[in-house]
Amino acid sequence: MEIRNETAADQAAVHALHLAAFSTPAEAKLVDLLRAQAQPLVSLVAADADGIAGHILFSPMRTAGPVDGPQALLMGLAPLAVAPSRQGGGIGSALVCAGLHACSKLGVAAVAVLGDPAYYRRFGFAPAGRHGLHCRYTEPGGAPPEAFMVMELVPHALRGSDARAPITGLLRYHPAFDTLD
Ligand SMILES: CC(C)(COP(=O)(O)OP(=O)(O)OC[C@H]1O[C@@H](n2cnc3c(N)ncnc32)[C@H](O)[C@@H]1OP(=O)(O)O)[C@@H](O)C(=O)NCCC(=O)NCCS
Repeated sequence: MEIRNETAADQAAVHALHLAAFSTPAEAKLVDLLRAQAQPLVSLVAADADGIAGHILFSPMRTAGPVDGPQALLMGLAPLAVAPSRQGGGIGSALVCAGLHACSKLGVAAVAVLGDPAYYRRFGFAPAGRHGLHCRYTEPGGAPPEAFMVMELVPHALRGSDARAPITGLLRYHPAFDTLD
């Protein structure tokens, strides 16, 4: 099993993978939109002789308020999918680890994810609320607050410093995520 950057030749198989892994076409469409609209992206596939077995995408996130000066690069992990027949074999974990490494090499300050804490905790994600961060999907009536997690790739990146304000409050996914509504 090889984890590598997605190429143009993988795009149809990645679309089909998300259709198979999720109960609606929303994630498959989201990947296509983000590929067209968002920069920078980290898009990795897990591939072997049988084809594409998994895919992970990271896209930029923004804080809600006005920001003076350059904003730290924040990425949201979504979506992640492994082919149903290949789940439970470590492919998802390998994609998360490789994706975090790729984000780190890009200079990403922190990565956020909305998902099951039982799964994402093992990689070092912790509740975003500890940093005073939230997203619109955890507003009342939505996902539980603990489902929104963050991980600093640059130590103390969220805390701020003399030169830079802390990163706190609402974190916004790329506008392409609005198609999930
Ligand atoms: C979630 C998913 C990506 C995990 O990939 P995977 O290759 O099956 O996972 P791994 O083999 O790396 O990890 C297996 C571990 O994750 C756990 N796990 C798998 N899917 C999980 C889920 N949806 N929620 C919580 N835990 C999950 C397994 O119980 C197992 O735990 P263990 O190591 O303690 O036994 C995959 O199941 C999938 O594509 N699911 C459908 C799409 C989806 O829900 N994506 C997540 C969006 S945030």
